Amino acid sequence: MKKDTIVSNLLVEKLVFWWSGLAHLPDGKSVIISGGAVPESVVSVRVLRSKKNHIEAQLVEVEKPSPHVRELPDHWQVYGGCRWLPIAYDRQLQYKSDQVREAFRPLGDRVSDTVFRPIVACERTEGYRNKVEFSYGKYISAKEDVHEEYRFGFHVPASYDRIIDCTYCVLADDETNAIFRAVDTWSRTSGLSTYDPRAQEGCLRHLVIRCAHHTRETMVVMSLRTDAPEWTPETEQSLLVFFQELRARHPDIASCYLLENNGKADIVHGEFRLVSGAPTITEELLGLRFRIRPQSFFQVNTLQAERLYSIVREFAPARGGLALDLYAGTSTIGSVLADRFERVVSVEINASACEDARENATLNNITNLEMVCAPVEKYLQQYTDSGERADFLVVDPPRDGMHPDAIAPILAFQAGVIVYVSCNPSTLARDLDRLLESGIYRITDVVPVDMFPHTHHIETVVRLIKATK
Ligand SMILES: C[S@@+](CC[C@H](N)C(=O)[O-])C[C@H]1O[C@@H](n2cnc3c(N)ncnc32)[C@H](O)[C@@H]1O
Repeated sequence: MKKDTIVSNLLVEKLVFWWSGLAHLPDGKSVIISGGAVPESVVSVRVLRSKKNHIEAQLVEVEKPSPHVRELPDHWQVYGGCRWLPIAYDRQLQYKSDQVREAFRPLGDRVSDTVFRPIVACERTEGYRNKVEFSYGKYISAKEDVHEEYRFGFHVPASYDRIIDCTYCVLADDETNAIFRAVDTWSRTSGLSTYDPRAQEGCLRHLVIRCAHHTRETMVVMSLRTDAPEWTPETEQSLLVFFQELRARHPDIASCYLLENNGKADIVHGEFRLVSGAPTITEELLGLRFRIRPQSFFQVNTLQAERLYSIVREFAPARGGLALDLYAGTSTIGSVLADRFERVVSVEINASACEDARENATLNNITNLEMVCAPVEKYLQQYTDSGERADFLVVDPPRDGMHPDAIAPILAFQAGVIVYVSCNPSTLARDLDRLLESGIYRITDVVPVDMFPHTHHIETVVRLIKATK
């Protein structure tokens, strides 16, 4: 079928590859539809590519909406980060559970049906994010005869230079939305231009708002180019005055930073400069306190992170000698396990996260947690050579999963229980396949946890128990 052909009357059967819809042509050929096709809707699509066994297409029009699409309040906008917003929440949960089961299919009978627990839903499906990142930009298109010098909101999916204005972010709480609006009003009249990544010109780049769920302490970070011509001592002063006024109007703002980013990459990165308030905010998690700096990693859904960590605790032995917390971040998991074990060793590659973890251990009077700054695969090798054994081992790697060199040393620890926390069911299934190959472990529990309602993301916790002594 030729590129750009429009095909109508396609029934979307299910979601595949996380966000694409699957339909079939009358001759049986599969059509993979990008652009937000919801199962059980009837759509028309534009052909992007014709492959031997399937066609890749882009959604053009929904001819008949899915019964699972709901009516949204007028002020709710769908942005790239919340594309599942129109899908009823119980359906979102169903799709996520199905995706996890689908990902586990290649493991065959090594995963019995009974190990799958029901997905853990979010009690709070809106306003759950404790961190939101907004981008400034422009919208200039000679083709469409559009020239807008100011845009402030979120990136158009898969676009590095196009921004959609945000009017209300459903994933952020009301306070974050109110602060965003105040900054938006100020920026429009500030005399500062917005950044254009194509021309690499302009001043205002990003706004990051972090609002701790339990303490309500809030941090505001304004990222900009200080080498832009209009960034002068006067414009800087006017921004500082604005921050003071903002803090007066929003007393929960405990910390304001400028982030000087004169680099080409349009990411939140650079030199953080504290300009008002305290250097950190504090969040609570399962009764522990965690200090958050502007560059710190912290789970973005505090309430659901508590449920996730509670499951890890439930799977851990009631008492033990050594627990290993691998890919530890700021060692939140290590910290919540510390009262169960004589020693906890957390391993993390990022030095700044390790520094945060040590400070947090001190803040929480945890004295049996050792933070190691190293790649897991390298560290484990040395550790296994020492002959020490762990009672409990938890891994929480990034999306790409574990380094293949980590598998053999993990098995060598012969921990009674391994818990794998994953944000990517595909790499999770691949790594489980490698762990199960030895025959030492069997899977006893698979628990999908919805940390991110209205997105396609899903977290999964898996418990493996040593099958042989
Ligand atoms: C999903 S996060 C884990 C977060 C943490 N467990 C938590 O719950 O907050 C994955 C972490 O693995 C770290 N990481 C990535 N590759 C690593 C490696 N090879 N060795 C050690 N840590 C690594 C990343 O820096 C990141 O902090």
